[in-house]
Amino acid sequence: MDRMKPWGPVLVVLCMNSLNSTVNGAGGGNNEDLGASFIFGDSLVGAGNNNYLQTLSKANIPPNGIDFKASGGQPTGRFTNGRTIGDIVGEELGIPDYAVPYLAPNSTGKAILYGVNYASGGGGIMNATGSIFARIGFQIDYINNTRQQLDKLLGPSKAKDYISKSSIFSITIGSNDFLNNYLLPLVSTGTRISENPDAFIDDMINHFRNQLTRLYQLNARKFVIGNVGPIGCIPYQKTINQLKENQCVGLSNRLAMQYNRQLKNLLTELNWNLQGAIFVHANVYDLVMELVTNYAKYGLRIDTHRP
Ligand SMILES: *[C@@H]1O[C@H](CO)[C@@H](O)[C@H](O)[C@H]1NC(C)=O
Ligand SMILES: *[C@@H]1O[C@H](CO)[C@@H](O)[C@H](O)[C@H]1NC(C)=O
Ligand SMILES: *[C@@H]1O[C@H](CO)[C@@H](O)[C@H](O)[C@H]1NC(C)=O
Repeated sequence: MDRMKPWGPVLVVLCMNSLNSTVNGAGGGNNEDLGASFIFGDSLVGAGNNNYLQTLSKANIPPNGIDFKASGGQPTGRFTNGRTIGDIVGEELGIPDYAVPYLAPNSTGKAILYGVNYASGGGGIMNATGSIFARIGFQIDYINNTRQQLDKLLGPSKAKDYISKSSIFSITIGSNDFLNNYLLPLVSTGTRISENPDAFIDDMINHFRNQLTRLYQLNARKFVIGNVGPIGCIPYQKTINQLKENQCVGLSNRLAMQYNRQLKNLLTELNWNLQGAIFVHANVYDLVMELVTNYAKYGLRIDTHRP
């Protein structure tokens, strides 16, 4: 969602830190070349899949893209003025082209050796969040297709090595499960009445465990998983709850923090249980909260121009 645009710079810093720790952590000094970046998630990392979907969640209109050099300032379907963290991770890996959106016509042949972007604006962990493609479960169905294409391109044995040793899997998901599902008054009042926050978050974590395990079964080994940011501080939440400039929605942030605690435990569990896999936890929440709180320190200001 474009309302999360201001998070861009923070996520960038965050992901680069995470990536370094992944690279260094991988195989204890046995530095294999990382050649591909497979990107999953929501609008925070989307690169254009929604252009090919019937959805209201689209970003291929200005001013999106105005600072994106690769397109000469034209919108691409990224929900931001510039690059996403996914793009920057690719640059850091030295990949010559950004990971192509899975649904783009040129996501075929050798282009997929640099990775593929499956992310979709509006996406979430739960089935009830977002459109069909946007759900992470479907994104994993699609990498299963890519996986089979890689087998054909490289041969099964090399393809397996490529995925497990030379590829990084970054996943940025979860915010929409709260914003556009659990916390959405019209759609999910029923869910909220029938399911308390503990049960909803347990459900999310259980789904996510299955989804990450599926990626592992497809030979993914190097993971960077972002947690949910302070969603109570985004303009949309502040507006619908009629808060003042320096306030954030307590319930939304508490849900995010509760999910984040359980996510951290999940990643510890998976690091332990899934042999040879490395799950790096990217702490979006604290970084963004620092920006929201001490924005002036980072050269940001409150825009008093209201439409
Ligand atoms: C795929 O097509 C897009 C849009 O035309 C282009 O910007 C991008 O560089 C292409 N990527 C690859 C890997 O061919
Ligand atoms: C979610 O959707 C997938 C695909 O349609 C289905 O296989 C799965 O059982 C669903 N999960 C739940 C909990 O409804
Ligand atoms: C990938 O697809 C194959 C063939 O359709 C299927 O047997 C397998 O269970 C799928 N794997 C995952 C992890 O979804």
